[in-house]
Amino acid sequence: MIGALPTTASLYERVRRVIPPIEWPAFADDIEAILALKRKRNAVILAHNYQTPEIFHCVADIVGDSLALARKAMTVDADVIVLAGVHFMAETAKLLNPGKTVLIPDPGAGCSLADSITASDVRLMRQRYPGVPVVTYVNTAAAVKAESDICCTSGNALAIVESLGAPRVIMLPDEYLAQNIAAQTDVQIIAWKGHCEVHERFSPADISELRQGHPGITVLAHPECPPEVVAAADFAGSTAAMSDYVGRHKPARVVLMTECSMSDNVAVEHPDVDFVRPCNLCPHMKRITLANIRAALEENRHVVTIDPAVAERARWAVERMLFV
Ligand code: 13P
Ligand code: SF4
Repeated sequence: MIGALPTTASLYERVRRVIPPIEWPAFADDIEAILALKRKRNAVILAHNYQTPEIFHCVADIVGDSLALARKAMTVDADVIVLAGVHFMAETAKLLNPGKTVLIPDPGAGCSLADSITASDVRLMRQRYPGVPVVTYVNTAAAVKAESDICCTSGNALAIVESLGAPRVIMLPDEYLAQNIAAQTDVQIIAWKGHCEVHERFSPADISELRQGHPGITVLAHPECPPEVVAAADFAGSTAAMSDYVGRHKPARVVLMTECSMSDNVAVEHPDVDFVRPCNLCPHMKRITLANIRAALEENRHVVTIDPAVAERARWAVERMLFV
């Protein structure tokens, strides 16, 4: 039996700590429409941890880090998937659901890492290092994944690198993630020069200032941050790992060296934790709004398509990762 849709008043109760009452009326109408459209179109919304709270907590069906979104995308039972996140995430969902309609509300939601490398760059790396396996971060286009032996996310990168049993691996395209993994393994890592425009801006000086201003603060960092930042933090992990850390350790005061919406989304679940908020916005993630999610469902736009020859090879690299 299909249950009643949640009321927007009950949804507001969930997010009232992070969305001021004056902003809510601007969201309520779109939320109501999106909940009805999801039912009408048998659609689900997958949202990344960097989506704003009115998306993450009020309309999303499945939320998580890149790894969780890829894993859960494999089990989706719906005709339509709306990916509230960036383009590579929508492509990954399409790779794993070739028969379903996958929509991205704004196809311009890119990623500086995905933009840092092309398929021909990967072929050149293979020529330069013959026989060395290529591990590609999911933050890449399908065409780049198609040239790779296996994909990884920040949540499983160490396990993936070590699973190959090779003395050396090429790890593309995030230089800092590669360096942060190299610090934890004996496998020699050959990196690329890609950077996340959000995480590269954090510095060890930011952490010193925070520790001076908030004695006892717990500092969590994403592994896309430079290695000096990760070294100065108390813990580094994927967006899901940071969220789990807060749930397990319940620090009195914490800062997440990552995208701004993460703190809002985690704060909703942990009213007793004080979140200190220097953070950096990801302009690509922020292109997704309730208004364009609604338009995506109303107008069936923008449909994600991948060249079948590319898709077959890229799917193999993603699926191989999911079975490690
Ligand atoms: P996660 O896999 O940790 O969610 O990271 C994705 C991302 O784009 C971080 O910038
Ligand atoms: Fe890409 Fe960085 Fe934005 Fe993540 S936060 S989507 S890595 S630009």
